[in-house]
Amino acid sequence: MEPILVTGATGTVGRAVVRQLLEAGHEVRALTRYPDQARLPAGVEVVGGSFLEPSSLVPALRGVRRVHLVSIGGDGPAIADVLRRAGVERLTHLGHNDPSRPDDDPLETWHRVFHRAIEASGAEWTHVFPGEFMANTLEWAPGVRAESVVRAPFGDWSSALVHEDDIAGVVVRALLEDGHAGRAYQPTGPEPVLRRDAVRMIGEAVGRPVEFVELTPAQAREHWRDLYPPQVVEWFLEMGTTPDANAWVSPDVAEVLGRPGLTFDRWAREHAAEFA
Ligand SMILES: NC(=O)c1ccc[n+]([C@@H]2O[C@H](COP(=O)([O-])OP(=O)(O)OC[C@H]3O[C@@H](n4cnc5c(N)ncnc54)[C@H](OP(=O)(O)O)[C@@H]3O)[C@@H](O)[C@H]2O)c1
Repeated sequence: MEPILVTGATGTVGRAVVRQLLEAGHEVRALTRYPDQARLPAGVEVVGGSFLEPSSLVPALRGVRRVHLVSIGGDGPAIADVLRRAGVERLTHLGHNDPSRPDDDPLETWHRVFHRAIEASGAEWTHVFPGEFMANTLEWAPGVRAESVVRAPFGDWSSALVHEDDIAGVVVRALLEDGHAGRAYQPTGPEPVLRRDAVRMIGEAVGRPVEFVELTPAQAREHWRDLYPPQVVEWFLEMGTTPDANAWVSPDVAEVLGRPGLTFDRWAREHAAEFA
């Protein structure tokens, strides 16, 4: 059996993809820029390479027919060209898409070019465009650990936060099963969660109350300055003006996995040690 190449293998979703492929009995080759720091499970073949240098992907692609690709940087058409030359037959693609925005929106243009390159790569492709990751709330962990406080804007903002194992589950089905080619899945969680409720559930998981201190948009801009690029901060703040902008619950996790999506309450208990 030839290996399946997982890019972004050290990331939030990538680690779950690697684990689920191993559990399903597949050989996994993992791409990372930093093989020495990858901390991947025993049995995974770790290979160095970067999207910023598409030719560096060639060794990782040797003998591979199925690839999980994360769009995180680089020139989409050049990357797709390397995949085509390597003879990749099936691609899952984890990326971002906000269908409410046009192709020439600065937040979307790079992604749309990437998407089209994948669609023209000659491989069977499946896009996976998730909702907001539950794991993004790990940004709150230092504040919870230090002073049992979360400082964030928009306490009544509602988001169908999605568990990384559900995103990975959809990716793994699309890699292993027929019938997912040409689909663009949008995994979300099973229910919208208010920011302040997410904080409460983290408190319940760690066994002590965690206070939610609501920041004004101006305070949030300052708070996020060193964490995200300015245009991403403005995007977050713009989304915050529409409280249910991310609240939509997609049917995709339930349809692809045959079970409801995993809840935030469960995610918080699984990650309690990181907040405790
Ligand atoms: N976070 C969300 O809420 C959210 C929502 C919807 C969609 N998404 C999408 O999900 C994807 C993952 O996002 P994330 O921020 O959560 O990622 P992440 O978990 O932080 O992981 C990023 C991964 O990309 C790899 N990587 C980064 N630069 C690379 C490069 N130049 N060459 C090769 N590999 C590289 C990293 O590997 P090494 O460091 O080991 O090289 C790491 O494994 C993105 O496409 C994002 O747009 C995220």
